[in-house]
Order: sequence, then structure tokens, then C-alpha cells
Amino acid sequence: MKYDFETLIDRTDSGSGKWDGMKEKKPDLSPGIVPFSVADMEFKNAPEIREGLKEYLDTHILGYTGPTKQYYEAVCAWMKQEHGWEIDPEHIVCTLGVVPALFTLVKAFCEPGDGVIVMPPVYYPFYMAAENHNCRIKRCPLVYRDHAYTIDYDLLEKIAAEEDSKMLIFCSPHNPVGRVWKKEELKRVGEICLKHGVKIVSDEIHSDLIMPGHTHTVFSQAGDFGSEVIVCTAPSKTFNLAAMQTSNIVIPKKEDRERFREIQGHSGPGALGFEACRLAYTKCRPWLTECLSVIWDNFRFAKAFFEEHLPQIKVIDLEGTYLMWLDCTALGKTKEELEELMVQKAELFLDEGYLFGEEGAGFERINIACPQWVLKAALERFEKAVKEG
Ligand SMILES: Cc1ncc(COP(=O)(O)O)c(C=O)c1O
Repeated sequence: MKYDFETLIDRTDSGSGKWDGMKEKKPDLSPGIVPFSVADMEFKNAPEIREGLKEYLDTHILGYTGPTKQYYEAVCAWMKQEHGWEIDPEHIVCTLGVVPALFTLVKAFCEPGDGVIVMPPVYYPFYMAAENHNCRIKRCPLVYRDHAYTIDYDLLEKIAAEEDSKMLIFCSPHNPVGRVWKKEELKRVGEICLKHGVKIVSDEIHSDLIMPGHTHTVFSQAGDFGSEVIVCTAPSKTFNLAAMQTSNIVIPKKEDRERFREIQGHSGPGALGFEACRLAYTKCRPWLTECLSVIWDNFRFAKAFFEEHLPQIKVIDLEGTYLMWLDCTALGKTKEELEELMVQKAELFLDEGYLFGEEGAGFERINIACPQWVLKAALERFEKAVKEG
């Protein structure tokens, strides 16, 4: 390994919501406890980004700064190299994050009272984006069978056909269930939505975090969808850059971009965000390659741990993301009891499954982007707490 994936940075009092939230939930926390919730990594940023930002500060002035030609080139080159996706740089709209973009998209393309389709259990800000504009949430739950998730196309067809259904917010790869959707799956979803005039917004923030044996297909490339699909991308999950607040939303239709910008107003990333994204996309593929191998290794380690020590807990296959989804329903606990066991007994700060919708009750989401020794200590606490009841 060329890069450091072993050092833990103590983020106490650094403004990390994940670390602060842990203290709020359990003020008498034991020393050395690390949270496993919010999706950022407990890994140091790539040295190419750290050094590159220092150099930028030494050679630039922090005046008003927008995205440069080199910035757009870096984004387009990354998408081509990683996903075989050719983007017209004009189609890119930079935002302060994917979540802010989702809020803007709902405001731009839905009226209050319109229906926004989501596929729970799913990343909960999808609900918030719809509710914020007083839209109705139309739930098309994923089908859970034999510890694996698929799409309910019949239900999607029925919901999409309803007159008030205006938008689908789709998660690809899917947080929290870890699916990397196959091209045929995307094609079917796309065809259904297009047939019924439902706008497709595909949140692909996890699309660079793909596990061995799987391939990410960009939604707009999965079928003959013309310029109908809006794809949300960012370097933030891939390179642990959430604090830089820089995302790239690909909106192919000119009138859609204009509408989006009208609602977005004068907000956008800053100079350091643009530079961090440019550095990541041009210099950090080797770091990502190692990072992915660490995540995959952590997943295999955790899966083997559960199989050996807690076989009643089922680990859902990780096809993409660094978020492991655990079916803990066999423990027979209510969601409150499960949370109590995790937080108070095991000192484990995970994302409770019910946060992602009622289908997630009895599940836990663990962020495994951390040094393996940190994960091991957590799994041991998990085992002890469950065995002691
Ligand atoms: C599916 C998904 N979309 C968006 C985000 C957050 O995006 P941002 O930080 O760019 O607002 C996350 C973070 O966990 C996520 O999992």
C-alpha cells in the first residue's frame, strides 16, 4: 500500500456532525469510540489533494472564482474514463452538494402537491427534498427477497401512470441497500418513467465506489432516453471531500438548465472546492484504487465475522458504496430496542434502518470506510452486546 488507510484522525470538536452526534446520544461515552453513521470516510485525504490545495493557496488569490476550463475538462475526462460517459461540459451545473441540488430540482420541476416517487428503504433526504416543496411522496418499495433487493416494476408502472406523478428520485448505486443496478434494470425503470412523463433524477454520488464483479451504468446511458435524465455526480463520496461542497449535476436540456439556475440563484462552490475536485479527478485514481481494495477487504472481514460469531444477522451483499446493510430482524427487537442495544450497550453509532423508511426497521447501516482495526473493535462490541442481550 502506497497510501495511509490505517491512521485514525480524531474528529472530536472538529464540527463533524457524525462525531458530535455520538456525544449527544451518549454523553458518558467510553474513550476511543468512533461513529459509523454519516457517509464520509475515516481515512485521511489523498496526499495529492492535501499538497495540491497547499500549492493552490501559495500561487492563487482567493477572489471571486468560478469553474475553469481545466475544471470542466477534469470532470468530463473522469466520467469518460470511469464510466464511458461523454458529457458536454455545457451540461454541467455546479452545486454546493447533491442534496441541495435535489431540493432545487424538486422546486424547479414540481408543483406543490405533485407526486415524487422514491424507492424505500432509501437515503432519507430524498423525502426531505419532496416534503420541503410540499410534494407528495409516492413510495415504490424495493422488493426484499432472499436477502437481496430488486425493483417492483408493476408497482412503478402503476404509480408512474397516476397523473400527479412528476418525478422519480432514483439512487444509483442504492444507499442503503448497496445495489449496483444493472443496465437492464435501469432501462426498464427509464422506459416506464418516460412513457408516463415522469422526470428522472438519478443520484449517482456513489457511482465510483463499485465492488469487484459489478459495473456502474450511468442512467442516461442505459437506454434511448435522449436528454431526459438528470444525473447527479460528485467527488465527495469517492474522495472524502464532503466538506468541499462541490457537485456536478448533468442537465442535458438547455431549458431545464435555465430553469434549474433560476431556482438555484447565486449559490455555488468556492475556489477550493473546484480545485479539490480537479485534483481528485486528475491525480487521485491510484488512491481510489487502494481505497476500494480496503473497503472490499473490510466488507469481507465483517461478513466473515458475522457468519462466524452472529450468524442470525444477515449481511446484504455489497455491490457498491461503503455502506454495509445488515438484516438484524432475527434478533426479534423493536426498532427502539435495537437502537438502545446499539447505542447504550454496544456504544455503536450506526444509521438505524428505520431512518430510510419503515422497510428499514430492524436493519442497521454501517459505514465501513475506516481503518480495519476500528471496524474490528466495533464488531467485537456488537457481538458482546447481542450475546449479553
Ligand atoms: C445517495 C446520496 N446522495 C447524496 C448524499 C449527500 O450529498 P451532498 O453531500 O453532496 O449533499 C449522500 C450522502 O450520504 C448520499 O448517500
